[in-house]
Amino acid sequence: MGGVAPALSRRGRLMTDLGLAEIAADQPAGLCATDVAGFPAETWNRLLFRHARRGEASVYRPADPCGLPALREALAEHIRLTRGVQCQARQVLVVSSTQQAIDLAARLLLDPGATALVEEPGYPGARAALLAAGATVRGVPVDGEGLVAERLPARPGARLLYITPSHQFPLGVTLSLARRLALLHWAARTGAWILEDDYDSEFRYDGRPLAALQGLDREGRVLYLGTCNKVLFPGLRLAYLVVPEPLVDAFAAGRRISDGFSPPLPQAVLADFLAGGYFAGYLRQARAHYAACRDALVRRVTRAWEGAPLGPSDTGLHLVAYLPRGSNDTRLVRGLPDAGFGVSPLSRYYYGEARHRGLLLFYGATTPERIARGVGLLTPHVAPLLKGAGRAVVP
Ligand SMILES: Cc1ncc(COP(=O)(O)O)c(C=O)c1O
Repeated sequence: MGGVAPALSRRGRLMTDLGLAEIAADQPAGLCATDVAGFPAETWNRLLFRHARRGEASVYRPADPCGLPALREALAEHIRLTRGVQCQARQVLVVSSTQQAIDLAARLLLDPGATALVEEPGYPGARAALLAAGATVRGVPVDGEGLVAERLPARPGARLLYITPSHQFPLGVTLSLARRLALLHWAARTGAWILEDDYDSEFRYDGRPLAALQGLDREGRVLYLGTCNKVLFPGLRLAYLVVPEPLVDAFAAGRRISDGFSPPLPQAVLADFLAGGYFAGYLRQARAHYAACRDALVRRVTRAWEGAPLGPSDTGLHLVAYLPRGSNDTRLVRGLPDAGFGVSPLSRYYYGEARHRGLLLFYGATTPERIARGVGLLTPHVAPLLKGAGRAVVP
């Protein structure tokens, strides 16, 4: 941004710095982009026209800040069945994004300066929202079993923990059952809230998924976040937040004075898309496409980048290829040609010093053919790093 520095508030300056860092890290197609080519646009448009043409008051008038009742019912049913989330429709709040849900939760649950814990490495979007809300953010390390529960502060003090238990972002590991139980025990004992971000578990290719952490929670400490912006398309801007019953009114009120409500027309369409079985049908097809992309990426990288072990790839739309400890992954990514899929340095996802180096490879918006070509384009840049001293260490 050029020109005269505007007289921003302290919070405004913080938000500007955090937001500009996020914008700078965006890539042309967006790292979170998905395969819109395969989306059943005709079905979506048919449902859209039906609601728009009928001129229903519910889609033209101001709507409930919590979301359309039909969508809240459909989402509650969907996550009860597929994720083992325990909830009534009343606890489901429709929001525009995970990002908005984290922002609302931070502002409603944290006083300025309160401690919020995040995974290290972790999702920069969550970190930024917590910092922008005035929280003091601390990282808790992640290893091959997910967040290291023994490293949580023993004494009460932290107010909130943000976590991606089903598919840790960015490492891709799954939080073990023992650690899930330890985490819930810790939250109940210290009075902390847990924000569970279940952003991409719909895309599971191998093995059986572990149910959501929220389903194991007996003390009402977990807030569950899901998004349709990844599973359907990023331009949709519909996500959801499931809150413990005593928080429902506060979140409804917070949403009302934040930006009112989400647009009702796409909500009505999404409700039909879920209830009519189109969502499940699309998911089966999308999963097959992404599995083919994952397979191509794993095959190509394993063959071309000997010495760059891969992290787990059983779920989601990205994986990590680890580089030797001393590699400068940020500089490497800056010099890479366009691969036809997203590439990001692992270092970027650490809040403190990066303990591991690697490349995040995003295959949400590409094809097996482009992956084959793209890995070929990247190899002359990556291979020299793998020949040097030192080995890549996988967490
Ligand atoms: C961990 C994580 N949570 C959430 C999201 C995005 O969700 P939304 O667009 O709904 O904010 C992403 C995007 O890829 C993500 O990586």
